[in-house]
Amino acid sequence: MKQYCVEWKTITRLCSTKPILTVNGEYPGPTIAVNEGDDVEIKVTNRVSINTTIHWHGIKQLRTGWADGPAYVTQCPITPGHSYTYKFTVNDQRGTLWWHAHIAWQRATVYGAIIIYPRMPYPFAAPVDAEIPIIFGEWWNLPVEGIEVEMNRYGSGPNSSDAYTINGLPGSLYPCSLEDTFIQTVERGKTYMLRIINAALNDELFFSIANHTLTVVEIDASYTKPFDTEAIMITPGQTFTVILNANQHRFSNGLFVMAARPYLTTVFPFDNSTTIGFLKYKGTMAETILLPKPSNLVLPYHLPSMEDNAYATQFVSQLRSLGTAQYPCKVPKKIDKRVVITISLNLQDCPVNQTCKGYNGKRFAASMNNQSFVRPPTSILEWHYRNDSSTQYSYDFPLKPPNIFDYTGVDPLAHNVNPNFGTKLFAVEYGTRLEIVLQDTGFLNVENHPIHIHGHNFFIVGMGFGNFDAEKDTARYNLVDPPERNTVGVPVGGWAAVRINANNPGVWFMHCHLEEHTSWGLATGFVVKSGAEPSQRLLPPPHDLPPC
Ligand code: C2O
Repeated sequence: MKQYCVEWKTITRLCSTKPILTVNGEYPGPTIAVNEGDDVEIKVTNRVSINTTIHWHGIKQLRTGWADGPAYVTQCPITPGHSYTYKFTVNDQRGTLWWHAHIAWQRATVYGAIIIYPRMPYPFAAPVDAEIPIIFGEWWNLPVEGIEVEMNRYGSGPNSSDAYTINGLPGSLYPCSLEDTFIQTVERGKTYMLRIINAALNDELFFSIANHTLTVVEIDASYTKPFDTEAIMITPGQTFTVILNANQHRFSNGLFVMAARPYLTTVFPFDNSTTIGFLKYKGTMAETILLPKPSNLVLPYHLPSMEDNAYATQFVSQLRSLGTAQYPCKVPKKIDKRVVITISLNLQDCPVNQTCKGYNGKRFAASMNNQSFVRPPTSILEWHYRNDSSTQYSYDFPLKPPNIFDYTGVDPLAHNVNPNFGTKLFAVEYGTRLEIVLQDTGFLNVENHPIHIHGHNFFIVGMGFGNFDAEKDTARYNLVDPPERNTVGVPVGGWAAVRINANNPGVWFMHCHLEEHTSWGLATGFVVKSGAEPSQRLLPPPHDLPPC
């Protein structure tokens, strides 16, 4: 059993010092390395003065929803001084995933990698000499634990972070960060496996390494058809495993810059800075030369510019499930049900006697089918399991977009006001072959919405711009080898269609993995009812499940 202590640790970045929440004093947190098929037990102890929980992002948690982690969805928080042991089995997935705190904005600093080693040999040719974790994050000079409270009070947006980070380090392009630059030593001729995780709170990122090709072999712990690329695009929540050959020649000085910067569809006054690190070849000049001054630094030639929509679209279209006899693509070819869910950012009228700092004196909110999710004061999964007829939640999530859904040419402001608030759950029968079409309404937004569903992987069968057209668009679906993921970047002003085998009974958080949107309510609880067989039911709750 592993011990995870959530504790404060004082650290300095960008010349600013503050206590941050960590696991075991590490930032980023400890890596969990397991074998496919392992039973995992992690005892999380809260050694701070605020509530916490941990989520194992992308772990399917078959029948073990109690160990999933989102606060007020599958459990009550672990209160100060208390512990909870997360127990689950890792099955039918292999590769890179990650874990993070799942309450307020604690995941800003509480996160780490999960590596699942496969039972069988890797289905790609490359021998792997070593592994390199590349975890992107964001750093705020001010405390992050209170951001959500502030946002709720004023209906406002959060401040942008002060830096992006690679493995907790901003890199030398940021002020006061020369020492805080990630440097990875590699040996010429060796092959490395990069475990890439986007733990940033609010931005999709492009990533590239100068003079090196990246071979994508797996995404969200599911193998892909390998393909070579000069840059990847990764949404918050997603993970990639890529192969890198350290094959650069002697005439270079042996120092190669790696860089990540956000992808936004139009340049917007968000944080527009770039985090960098270096690959440093052993036995070359790199061992003795100083890192280049920021003014002399040349970013990787292939790093797309911030608003490179064409690159983003083309990159995503290359992802395919491996789809071999050993690893067949299990996409449902037929479906029982299709549901269209709109994803909207909204403006809500300011309640009397309140000051609202969203936009035009209104509050920001966000919704799915115009329903903005409210986290209840206790665990939905417990209520659901006990058949509690609480009045605080209901199973009537709207299964249709609000009134007439057509945002083309219409002033989107008119359509994106005053969502409904509440805890309405989206429930399906056990075994439903479900298609969810996620339709962005394109208002107030310059970035893709990374929609994440807990407890299941899904297959991205189609994606496009504009409004989804049930006739034309379904005809172009990929039902052969669509990529399997747990998080999909729904294009701004476009849609993504995902198919799910709803075979994991429980209550699963489904939400935008941009933290500001989750805080505004861009979420719902996806309920898979128990089936008739004992093996189709949720296991009973563990005895140490925290009470509310
Ligand atoms: Cu990565 Cu709901 O979480």
